[in-house]
Amino acid sequence: MDSPSPLADHCVLVTGGAKRLGAAIGRRLHAAGANVVVHYYRSRDSADALVAELESARANSACAVRSDLHDVAHLPQVVAAACERFGRLDILVNNASSFYPTPLGTITAAQFDDLVGTNLRAPLFLSQAAAPALRASRGLILNMVDIHGRRPLKDHSVYCAAKAGLVMLTKALARELGPEVRVNGIAPGPVLWPERDLVASLKDEIIAKTALKRPGAPLDIARAAYYFAADAPYVTGEIITVDGGRSL
Ligand SMILES: NC(=O)c1ccc[n+]([C@@H]2O[C@H](COP(=O)([O-])OP(=O)(O)OC[C@H]3O[C@@H](n4cnc5c(N)ncnc54)[C@H](OP(=O)(O)O)[C@@H]3O)[C@@H](O)[C@H]2O)c1
Repeated sequence: MDSPSPLADHCVLVTGGAKRLGAAIGRRLHAAGANVVVHYYRSRDSADALVAELESARANSACAVRSDLHDVAHLPQVVAAACERFGRLDILVNNASSFYPTPLGTITAAQFDDLVGTNLRAPLFLSQAAAPALRASRGLILNMVDIHGRRPLKDHSVYCAAKAGLVMLTKALARELGPEVRVNGIAPGPVLWPERDLVASLKDEIIAKTALKRPGAPLDIARAAYYFAADAPYVTGEIITVDGGRSL
């Protein structure tokens, strides 16, 4: 029978892990035995609440670390904090992201820096900082990409280009970090609507174009994360699409 705790003693760092999909991934991997480092930037209360929840399930199994991922010079300290707290690092989940429209004609350099900074630059520099620890643990980098990293979303060229870059980074680092480290990605479709308002008619339109005719749930993404973390030792450089058939 499979172990109920295949990730026992493993250390997982989830960026943007306080809420939404990042929190769902952290909870799922924690339930599989992992210790979880919840990275956050603005969501201190949510990060503290998640750490308390995880700690009440299992003592000394979670902590939070704060960082603005645009501060590239600080990123090695985020990785070091995780390694120091649990003595190792096994999984880096590059989940944090900014997402908003940038119609051509309105795009600013600040928007470009923000969208590329969170969705591509930070994953690269976090991966670079984490590589020695991940090599030592024969670990995993898991990048949260998007179906729109392969197929454009109207008025979101900068976000889409950043996610497309993250798709290629996933494959490039899989070659470079093998054989010790696996590097994979998850491409969600409509799972959790953005926190900013989205008109109901647009949601309906997206669901109508989705084969399974419903949005996904955070657990659908967490299950894919569990697969890569615990059940995919011969899979690297791969992106799993979890979109209910939206991109068919
Ligand atoms: N939701 C979906 O249906 C969907 C669909 C396709 C792809 N995805 C991808 O899946 C991942 C998770 O999605 P989500 O909707 O759960 O993400 P989200 O809520 O939009 O963002 C996750 C976190 O990113 C963090 N973040 C943003 N800018 C940051 C910065 N400068 N420094 C540090 N952290 C920063 C924020 O942390 P704080 O709150 O702590 O500031 C935020 O809570 C993302 O990579 C997203 O692109 C999601």
